[in-house]
Amino acid sequence: MARRVAIGNNKGGAKKSTTAVRLAEALAKKGKRVGVADLDPQGNASRRLGWVDDPDSPPLTTSEAIEASAEGVASQVWQPIGWKAEYASRIVLMPARFTLEDRAVEAGQKGAWRRLAKALRGADDHLDYVLMDCPPSLGHLTQLALAAAHYALATTEPEYDSVEAAVRYRDFVESSGEDLGNPDLKFAGVIVSGYDMRIGAHVGQLDGARKLFGDQVWGIVPRRSLITNADEYAQPLSEVNDSSEVRGVFELLADRFVKEIPAA
Ligand SMILES: Nc1ncnc2c1ncn2[C@@H]1O[C@H](COP(=O)(O)OP(=O)(O)OP(=O)(O)O)[C@@H](O)[C@H]1O
Ligand SMILES: [Mg+2]
Repeated sequence: MARRVAIGNNKGGAKKSTTAVRLAEALAKKGKRVGVADLDPQGNASRRLGWVDDPDSPPLTTSEAIEASAEGVASQVWQPIGWKAEYASRIVLMPARFTLEDRAVEAGQKGAWRRLAKALRGADDHLDYVLMDCPPSLGHLTQLALAAAHYALATTEPEYDSVEAAVRYRDFVESSGEDLGNPDLKFAGVIVSGYDMRIGAHVGQLDGARKLFGDQVWGIVPRRSLITNADEYAQPLSEVNDSSEVRGVFELLADRFVKEIPAA
């Protein structure tokens, strides 16, 4: 079974999807086989990985995997990503489109929160890691991810509301494992992203994050326009000029990731 990691924060724009995509990229460059499961109806991670939906012949997505409520059904959903980089062949995607929103309303149905765990059972044995990109809420879709995960990883911008929302995510994870039928769920750490040392609030909130999370702060991703642009144009960093600093940052984070969460 792959090690599954739910990437979350209870605030929008906290860099969850970018972190999922760039960690998947850096882990794949290290030779790891990575699945990205998109749990956000916005589908941002799917699009940034170069996935293109086909309205004439709609591919299966996370929504169908959950709806099926069937053991191992996720094996039918993994698909290649759109990037042409050599290491991209080691990344597979469980994509999302807006119809994933329909699953959220099923929260009250019996056993609904176990459906992703069920779908993944036996369906990620060929992978080292599954990174689950959560929406900016602690509602049903995030709970589906947490019920299936071994670890939760937070991201945060170095701003008050974002750090506070990362703490809410951590506290939710640490108090909900039993209720989600997943008592071994662990909070692994937090990545601070979008840091700009010229902004006083960022300096103060980086300090605040270090006080609140201690050595669970895995690292800092600086604010760089090339990251926004690479996401915008759905590019791997290997295709982006002058990206060696940013690639280095994510490679170091991938080193920490593998150290904290060794492949099974
Ligand atoms: N380190 C960075 N420097 C500059 N821009 C960044 C950085 N990381 C991410 N971004 C950009 O910031 C924006 C928000 O990031 P992202 O979409 O990953 O956040 P999110 O937490 O997934 O948002 P949502 O809650 O809507 O899912 C995106 O445009 C992304 O490209
Ligand atoms: Mg997102």
